[in-house]
Amino acid sequence: MKPKSVKELLHSDKYLQEVTVNGWIRTFRSNRFIALNDGSTINNIQCVVDFENTEENILKRLTTGTAVEITGTLTESQGKGQNVEIQVTKIKVLGDSSPDEYPIQPKKHSLEFLREKAHLRIRTSTFSAVMRVRSVLSFAIHKYFQENGFYYVNTPIITGSDAEGAGEMFRVTTLNDKNPALTEEGKVDYSQDFFGKETNLTVSGQLEGETYAMGLGKIYTFGPTFRAENSNTSRHLAEFWMIEPEVAFLDLDGNMDLAEDFIKNVLKHVYDHCKDDLQFLEQRLIQEEKSKPQDQRSEMTLTEKIRFVLDNNFKRVSYTEAIEILKNSKPNKKKKFQYIIEEWGADLQSEHERFLVEKHFKCPVILFDYPAKIKAFYMRLNEDGKTVRAMDILFPGIGEIVGGSQREERYEVLKEKITAMGIDEKELWWYLDLRKFGTAVHSGFGLGFERLVQFTTGMTNIRDVIPYPRTPQNAEF
Ligand code: 4AD
Ligand code: MG
Repeated sequence: MKPKSVKELLHSDKYLQEVTVNGWIRTFRSNRFIALNDGSTINNIQCVVDFENTEENILKRLTTGTAVEITGTLTESQGKGQNVEIQVTKIKVLGDSSPDEYPIQPKKHSLEFLREKAHLRIRTSTFSAVMRVRSVLSFAIHKYFQENGFYYVNTPIITGSDAEGAGEMFRVTTLNDKNPALTEEGKVDYSQDFFGKETNLTVSGQLEGETYAMGLGKIYTFGPTFRAENSNTSRHLAEFWMIEPEVAFLDLDGNMDLAEDFIKNVLKHVYDHCKDDLQFLEQRLIQEEKSKPQDQRSEMTLTEKIRFVLDNNFKRVSYTEAIEILKNSKPNKKKKFQYIIEEWGADLQSEHERFLVEKHFKCPVILFDYPAKIKAFYMRLNEDGKTVRAMDILFPGIGEIVGGSQREERYEVLKEKITAMGIDEKELWWYLDLRKFGTAVHSGFGLGFERLVQFTTGMTNIRDVIPYPRTPQNAEF
């Protein structure tokens, strides 16, 4: 008999049918009730064991984590909180799990503890819910772009350019013990890097994405990106996934429209398709919030946060206006937000961003026209000569979720900016070429996928929304 998934069975009303299901035991109580999960849904299916007719030897092996194949009759459940259960007729133990060694016990484990068990944490309710939502989000992202005339472009992971010009790159090298190219002085000869060229892991697919937008019109990338910044925050990873649409003939206003429509669409899809998981994650968050001191608790539940984005227009505010607001706001007595900002030209800290979103405007915010000095070389210079057509989208609890801009399309201006920022123009010859041959206004943005997953699932730490987080502390797996 073809096995069915737990999800299929829980939604079935074909009672008294014989069914087979595979899964891992979450709990086994009173020598009678197995809570079985196979990852297809947040809910377990209850399997009632006929212990009088089951060998003692088998009963002993039914411990948490054990893989089993269960056959039985699907019946209406008498128990609370479930519609169906299986009256077991046959149990086959597929893989034992020693109760003395298996680290995921049926009790509450801390997220920190589970991070150490990254290969097994997916068997918990929290991680399986987060990763299902992650998968659905990823589908929704492709769906949105594919339905709106965008082509998916795979930009290189190994590249010779530093897209952000920030120098936060992981070097890629072919040097190793067998190929230890050394200079005459016996030092590692980096000119031998990657078959003679200096290369690194990409920090962003944008520059290559731009070249494709200037031919395909509307493109998006969705791939891993790498930042060698030594930051240990709950919002930074050394390896994260980014979604980067890029559109020819689109200016900054159009870029803002696109970003807002895209985010709302994707969130709506998850809101409609992940109800059980979101409900579970909402309850989890309520419990987590209760353990925090009163003044650090979030004022919104998970659903309220998602609705906050879906139901509000994103407020568009220039950087200069935002600085005025921050300067004129009184310091918060409880120090929850320390939003005193010195002067125009400073980069905003996440406290400032969260203050603007959560306290001042009370809606998602798009900040635009940042000082040129604090933004990347490729952004279009405004007529004032000191600001650029940049935009950052700020979300409650997260701060910056999107960074984007209208790109500098003028050859001479771009060349000047590249030189002024100390970047070697020769490395970007192909990027400059775009401005020589059929240049046009174009714009795009980057959405940090993990920050979106964090926002949608309410997970506090970004390490808990990617299967194997890469940070200065987490690289074991
Ligand atoms: O603001 P960023 O650095 O912009 C770019 O990389 C542009 N090239 C994007 C573009 O215009 N095509 O990064 C974009 C987003 C941020 O807003 C943030 O959500 C996320 O990527 N991000 C990170 N997420 C996790 N860990 C990190 N270390 C991140 N750095 C950026
Ligand atoms: Mg940014």
